[in-house]
Amino acid sequence: MRSLVLGGGAREHALAVAIARSPRVREVLALPGNAGIGAIARCLPGKADDVAHVVAVAKRERVDLVVVGPEAPLVAGIVDALAQAGVPAFGPSRAAAEMEGSKAFSKRFMKRHGVPTSDFEVFEGAASAEAAKAFVRSRGRPMVVKADGLAAGKGVVVAASVEETCAAIDDMLVGGAFGEAGRTIVVEERVTGLELSFHALCDGERFVPLAAARDHKRVFDGDRGPNTGGMGAFSSDELVSARLYQRIVDEVIAPTVRGLAADGRPFRGVLFAGLMLGEGGGDDAADAARPLSTLEFNVRFGDPETAVLLARLDADLVPYLDGAARGALGALAEAPPPVARDAAVAVVIAASGYPGAPRLGDPIGGLARAAAMPHVQVLHAGTALREGAIVSAGGRVLCVAARGADVDQACERAYAAVDCVELAGAVVRRDIAASARRRGGH
Ligand code: GLY
Repeated sequence: MRSLVLGGGAREHALAVAIARSPRVREVLALPGNAGIGAIARCLPGKADDVAHVVAVAKRERVDLVVVGPEAPLVAGIVDALAQAGVPAFGPSRAAAEMEGSKAFSKRFMKRHGVPTSDFEVFEGAASAEAAKAFVRSRGRPMVVKADGLAAGKGVVVAASVEETCAAIDDMLVGGAFGEAGRTIVVEERVTGLELSFHALCDGERFVPLAAARDHKRVFDGDRGPNTGGMGAFSSDELVSARLYQRIVDEVIAPTVRGLAADGRPFRGVLFAGLMLGEGGGDDAADAARPLSTLEFNVRFGDPETAVLLARLDADLVPYLDGAARGALGALAEAPPPVARDAAVAVVIAASGYPGAPRLGDPIGGLARAAAMPHVQVLHAGTALREGAIVSAGGRVLCVAARGADVDQACERAYAAVDCVELAGAVVRRDIAASARRRGGH
C-alpha cells in the first residue's frame, strides 16, 4: 500500500513513522511534510488544505490511503473530494467535521444527544452583542467565549470576570477579532478541574478507544503565560482509573458516535474529546460521581498528544486507519484497545519568542545524539532543510517523545534527549507530567 500523510507537524511525523513501520506499507508520501518526515517519506510540495491539488496528487501517485493530519482540510471537505475521486482517506466527511468546524453545532449536538457539557447560548452577528452581554450579566459570573469557526486554536477566551467576558463578546461580534469564524459565538459556563484528552478511532458505527492523555497548553512552567498549541503531553494508565475510562467511553464517545450516525453524519476518523474532570475521585465510588464535562470535540489527532498515544500503541496502526477509513473496523473494534500498560511523555522544543513572534531559521544541533537515545523519538514539527542543515521553520520546532515503564522513567528519558538538542533561545517547559509525578496522576 502507498499512503499519503497530509500536514507537516510533529503529529504528522509520528503518524508517518507508525505508518512506515507497517508491513502493509510499501511507500509513505507526505504533503508538505518537514525535514524530519523527509527522512522516512517522500515529501511533496503544496498545501494540505488545497483540496484540488491534494486530490490531483493522490490520483497521480496512485495513493491507497490518505491520512489527514490537520483540521482545516477536513472542515474544507477533503475526504468527500477524495472519496469522489475514488481515493480512501482517514478522516471525517465535511458534515462530520462540523464537530470541530462549528462550536455552535457541536454544543447543540451534545445537548441533543445527552453528552455532558456545560450550559451555553449561541449568539450570531454584531446585532446580538447586547443580548450576549445581558446573558452574561444575568448569570453574574465570568464565562467562556468561543468563536464558532476555526481560529487556529486562538478563538477561546476563558474570562476571569464579567467585564472581561463582555469585552471578549464585543471583540468577536463587533470588532471582528476572528473574522468570519467569530461572527457566531458560543457563550458557556466555565468548568474547572483537570483537562484530559481522549481519542477514539471510529468507522462510522464502531470505535476503538485509545489511552487518555494530558496536554500542557500554557507556555511556561506551572501553567503560566499565554496558551500555545501544546508544550508537552503525557499518557499513562494512572491518568484515569478503569472506572473513569469506562465512563468516558459510555457517556461521551459512544453517544457521540451513535448520535452522529443517527444524524446522517457517520464519523470515520479519530474523534478527540477535550474533557474536564472535576476534582475528587480516587476510589470507585468517587470516580463514579466525579464531574465529567466535554469542553470540545476535535476531528483529528491532537498535537502533541499523538506523540504519546502512538508511543504506547502496541499494534500496527495501519489496519486501524484503513478500517476506519473504509467503515470496516470489524473485529478490531471488539478486541481490547491495543495500548501498552506503560507510559509516554512528550516535550516540545519551541523557537525563541514562541508563541508571540517565534524566531525562524536558527540551526538545530544534537539531533542525531538525541534520536539515538533508547526509547526516544525525536519528532520534527517546524523544521526545514537549508543548505544541508536542519533549521527552525515554525513556532513549535521539535517534539521529543519517550516511552518508559512509568511516567518517571518516560520523563527522565525525554528530558535527557531534550538536553542533547541545541537550539538558541529554545522555549521548553521543564514540568511536563509533573502533576502525575507528584500526585500519582489523579
Ligand atoms: N493538543 C491540543 C490540540 O491538538 O488541539
